[in-house]
Amino acid sequence: MTTSINKVGVIGLGLMGHGIVQAASMAPGKRYEVVGLEATEDAIGAGKGRIEASIKRQLSRSVARGKLTEADAESQGADYLSRISYTTDRAGLADCDLVIEAITENPAIKLPLYTELGLLTKPSCILASNTSSLKIADMAGASGRPDRVVGLHFFNPVQVMKLVEVVRTDATDPAVFEQCRAFVNSIGKHPVSCKDTPGFIVNRLLVPALAQAMLMVDRGDASVEDIDKSMELGAGHPMGPLALADYVGLDTCLFILQGWVDNFPSEPAFVVPDCLRAMVDAGKLGRKSGEGFYKWE
Ligand code: CAA
Ligand code: NAD
Repeated sequence: MTTSINKVGVIGLGLMGHGIVQAASMAPGKRYEVVGLEATEDAIGAGKGRIEASIKRQLSRSVARGKLTEADAESQGADYLSRISYTTDRAGLADCDLVIEAITENPAIKLPLYTELGLLTKPSCILASNTSSLKIADMAGASGRPDRVVGLHFFNPVQVMKLVEVVRTDATDPAVFEQCRAFVNSIGKHPVSCKDTPGFIVNRLLVPALAQAMLMVDRGDASVEDIDKSMELGAGHPMGPLALADYVGLDTCLFILQGWVDNFPSEPAFVVPDCLRAMVDAGKLGRKSGEGFYKWE
């Protein structure tokens, strides 16, 4: 299936959103016009800087491997960047065909945004959340157009990870769902389909495992380094669970786990380890703040 999506909005240019902008602007299957929206001009500046550096880095690697000449890399880079515009004004999303929301994992911030998006985007626009753990149905309800709301769950780092979970609620129009799968294919990623269940597929399995590693730290069972090395060398994971939690962001891990504990109190896999709460309270958010379970450059 080809997609009728032409203009894509991305809200939030943090860890995930900047990678989603890059993936959409470099889509091998289609030329998308991409609009990045942030809350402040400073955040636009930071997001734009990350996107430009990351596109440049990817093209330089292709030059180093002999897949592109310097001149082609330069002209392709300029072409990708020309597809992207930036704004702090939500009205700038009015004529998008697809808006992907990648803002902070907090329903108190996300839900009012969906109500506003339902009013300001054109009626045919598809609204997609990159949420790690929240119910898509809640955002669909807030938008006033539940048939056109899905989850599009990317993985970190977006530039490298090939999977996107495409999540449908009971109200999602099947044609909208197929459009979203086609969009994922067009940006060179692999879509999998999932119902609107806590954590979808990957996080339902992965996040409880990260929490179990943190509980080992709480109990003093083993050192941070030995827990991680064990999962790298003993289970073949590219990164240990505590380095991965730092990589995801400890604030995001806490939002996910606390939300699940509040909403599913009888599910034993959902717990908030003491060390996680203590680090977030101390402003240690992992890689993005320079310190978490590890110190990061
Ligand atoms: N942006 C762009 N490219 C990146 C990148 C980034 N942030 N990080 C790494 N890369 C690229 C590198 O440039 C390199 O590319 P080439 O092979 O073309 O040169 C390639 O990725 C490998 O990078 P490195 O050799 O530097 O590093 P690595 O081999 O140690 O891999 C990693 C880094 C890809 C992050 C790897 O450690 C990994 O896969 N870790 C696990 C990641 C993971 O599990 N992500 C899911 C998190 S959970 C989630 O996202 C869902 C949620 O809701 C919380
Ligand atoms: P982040 O903190 O790096 O970025 C969030 C960005 O949203 C910030 O730049 C912030 O300025 C912006 N923002 C907040 N409120 C806004 C608003 N009202 N309007 C516009 N911009 C706003 O967070 P992140 O890690 O990129 O996570 C974003 C979403 O993606 C969350 O829902 C998270 O659960 C999900 N997610 C995260 C990961 C991960 O590994 N970090 C992986 C997959 C999905």
